[in-house]
Amino acid sequence: MRPFLEDRYGNASSRTHAHGWQAEEAVEIARKQVAAMLHAEPREIIFTSGATESNNLALKGVAGVREGTLIASPMEHPAIHDTMEHLAATGRTVRWLPVDDLGQIDPGSVREELGKKPTDGDACDAPAPAPPIALVSVMLANNEIGVIQPIREIGQLCEHAGAWLHTDATQGIGKIAFDVRADHVHLASITGHKIHGPQGAGALYVRRRDPEVTLAPLFHGGGQERGIRPGTLNVPGIVGLGMACELCRIEQHKDAAHALRLRGRLWERLTTELDDMVLNGHPEARLPGNLHVSFLGVDSQTLMMAVPDVSVSAGAACSSGRIEPSRTLRACRIGGARAAGAIRFGIGRFTTEDEIERAADLFVAAVKTLRTKNR
Ligand SMILES: Cc1ncc(COP(=O)(O)O)c(C=O)c1O
Repeated sequence: MRPFLEDRYGNASSRTHAHGWQAEEAVEIARKQVAAMLHAEPREIIFTSGATESNNLALKGVAGVREGTLIASPMEHPAIHDTMEHLAATGRTVRWLPVDDLGQIDPGSVREELGKKPTDGDACDAPAPAPPIALVSVMLANNEIGVIQPIREIGQLCEHAGAWLHTDATQGIGKIAFDVRADHVHLASITGHKIHGPQGAGALYVRRRDPEVTLAPLFHGGGQERGIRPGTLNVPGIVGLGMACELCRIEQHKDAAHALRLRGRLWERLTTELDDMVLNGHPEARLPGNLHVSFLGVDSQTLMMAVPDVSVSAGAACSSGRIEPSRTLRACRIGGARAAGAIRFGIGRFTTEDEIERAADLFVAAVKTLRTKNR
């Protein structure tokens, strides 16, 4: 990225001088790198400022060109959930899919939603015909409990029903297998900072054939990114995103094996040295680097304060003196002591064995101390 922040500071849309050509060339290399990781074509990649923008562009963009119901899971990131709520407030029909206790969406429930026929029911007192489904949005993997969704099966069902499938692939790419064609995905959002790339750089995959997906742009301006996302391109960010994708594509299996091994070690230490712990989310269908555990009888906010050197996050927040589980936990019916004591550990490419041992030492000691105090 550095050369593009320093001397190669050209505008990728400037066609009249070498600085512009250099920048454009760098952007096109990055487009190929992003496309290669997703098994897409370079012309199907639209650069954005991150997954929040990609998600907004996908949902509002489809809503702007296609009539019909919008469907999403209730445990999506706020960039999907709140955008859907916004679209509902503007009059669109939005439906939410059921989630099981392990955080997965059953493709059968997607089939049911897609199959709600206008002719269902008694002809005389039949309700008004259900509109066709414009878009289904289901994340590839969840950002809290790391659960992986059966995207390929959902994609097949959507394709069969003529509904477009968007997936917020932010948490899954570079960690698990994902192929936009084989998974029957029409739109996919990604962001740089979840794959060791820069913050403020992301992309949206928009299918160009079988079928060609069209979008209403969020912004109007110049013709950059085929007019779908106008504005001067963030060349250093795009270069960084491209390289992060390239490294993920090459390192994915190694990274996953590394994360799995370290996660296994952390889990082993915690479960042998502590009792009253519960794993949240699906035990197998989960991101290799995600460990989401509830330490029963402990308040996660207090626990995090007791272990400030380990960067983890909690599954519940305290609002007005009450413990409020996150929307994801609520969707899986996780509440009470399980939500109050929920902690997410994230393990990545650069996490070391020593860090895992140290994290285990600190958490075991802190949980024991807090439980003694609470008695
Ligand atoms: C699943 C998911 N979607 C969307 C986002 C938003 O990404 P960004 O902050 O790059 O806009 C995140 C980031 O945490 C995420 O985890």
